[in-house]
Amino acid sequence: MSSGKVAVPTIIIIFGGTGDLTKRKLVPAFYNLFLEGWLPDKFALIGLGRSRFNHEEYRAHLQEGLEEFSRSGKPAEDKWQPFQSTITYLQSDINKQESYQQLSEQLEALDNSWGVRANRLFYLSVAPQFIEAVTVNLSRCSMINDPEKDRIIVEKPFGKDLETARKLNKLLTSTFQESQIYRIDHYLGKETVQNILAFRFANALFEPIWNRNYIDFVQITVAEQVGVEDRGGYYEGAGALRDMIQNHLLQLLCMVAMEPPVSFEAEEIRNKKVDVLQAVRRFKHEDVNKYAVRGQYGPGWMKGEKVPGYREEEGVDPSSNTETYAAIKFYLDNWRWHGVPFYLRTGKRLQEKTSSVTVQFRPVPHLTFPSALSENLLPNRLTINIQPQMDIRLRFTAKRPGLEMSLRPAEMVFDFDDHANQSPEAYETLLLDAMQGDATLFMRADQVEVAWDVITPILEIWDSRPSLEFPNYPAGLWGPENAEALIAREGHTWAVSTYNKKTQKEKQK
Ligand code: BG6
Repeated sequence: MSSGKVAVPTIIIIFGGTGDLTKRKLVPAFYNLFLEGWLPDKFALIGLGRSRFNHEEYRAHLQEGLEEFSRSGKPAEDKWQPFQSTITYLQSDINKQESYQQLSEQLEALDNSWGVRANRLFYLSVAPQFIEAVTVNLSRCSMINDPEKDRIIVEKPFGKDLETARKLNKLLTSTFQESQIYRIDHYLGKETVQNILAFRFANALFEPIWNRNYIDFVQITVAEQVGVEDRGGYYEGAGALRDMIQNHLLQLLCMVAMEPPVSFEAEEIRNKKVDVLQAVRRFKHEDVNKYAVRGQYGPGWMKGEKVPGYREEEGVDPSSNTETYAAIKFYLDNWRWHGVPFYLRTGKRLQEKTSSVTVQFRPVPHLTFPSALSENLLPNRLTINIQPQMDIRLRFTAKRPGLEMSLRPAEMVFDFDDHANQSPEAYETLLLDAMQGDATLFMRADQVEVAWDVITPILEIWDSRPSLEFPNYPAGLWGPENAEALIAREGHTWAVSTYNKKTQKEKQK
């Protein structure tokens, strides 16, 4: 949503500066923004962490990250040199006031050398239990004293349930104004996710049929091949519902289901999204099993290699009740969507990595063709592939070429992939927006809370009643069998991935 190069001098302060996110995502994002000329001329990045690094060592550590993770690859020396000179490291203790004092002095020194009070962006890439210490100390040392210039970015997880999210909001809003708080959900920065808004609201074609009269059901899938990797400790306290559904998938649901906004103002768009979440029907405890299915992966095979089950992963309880898969059937109680099921599913160690939204339209109202010809008559379907494939596909029925009248499914494709290498990463978009003070793609306090509220009954049942079936799907398949049953009751099946191997091969030629 950016509106040009950042004009104002800006200092980025990263708490968790030696962490994985900083190395994999944040610094590569700033570097790519720098390469493409988006950063202001007066720019500084201060990384904070407990490890003992001097500035050179810290920069070298970040450079390794760039080589491995940046979309622009290994940085060229003549680009890296000016960029690295903007980075400094401050060894610090998140709980000690002296560290904040030192930071404050550094910020003032930069302001003095530039002759201007710079904007300050504090990035909290720390475990939730440290947010309070950072907030209190920043406020004590009056480092955040200009509501127009100072902002704070908070990474997920934003709480672990409605109550903790409320507490966190209370804590943050007691120190900062809501307009200064940027709660990040990186899915909203993805090109293909933002494109849902363009697709829906910059075209007149689909909006008139984007409702219960024409749409049969909607599916949102975020499937991953990876397991919990080295995050077993974190994941044990989270699970698929907290880690993915509460944030990324519900945000996708909002993009698909929201009413057309009157303007592109942050508050307007956020209001419309909150309306969607308010409309999601809340389950009664006794109905949770009817609407939600959980799964946990056991050992299995991925890409020809044997992989361990979740309970064998490092940092995981061998009798863990944490779900690594969740499928939920939601209904929205409003005029537009009444009676249309929204199926959301996500899981780790699934057969493919794919994120997509499938909008299935109702079948034609009357069969014009004799039934033998109509065998291949499938309802229209719109598939928005978010990743790794990035495209929009519209399935329709066409005549098979030839003398006979015969029908076949065909597809129209808009391919985002053609521009994939130039597409900014989600964090580039979001960090640029935060520097420019545009909160459209960030979560407002009420949005986060209502998202927690939506999943609360499921959380309560799943937390209090351990599954007797876990593990219930082998790594490398598509999840537990009862996820099929969940939607089969409505006569529906999960859309198979449209990952088109032929297209991929053609592209590689
Ligand atoms: C994160 C989750 O928010 O999103 C991870 O904590 C998950 O568990 C990741 O793997 C998925 O993001 P992406 O961008 O790879 O789809």
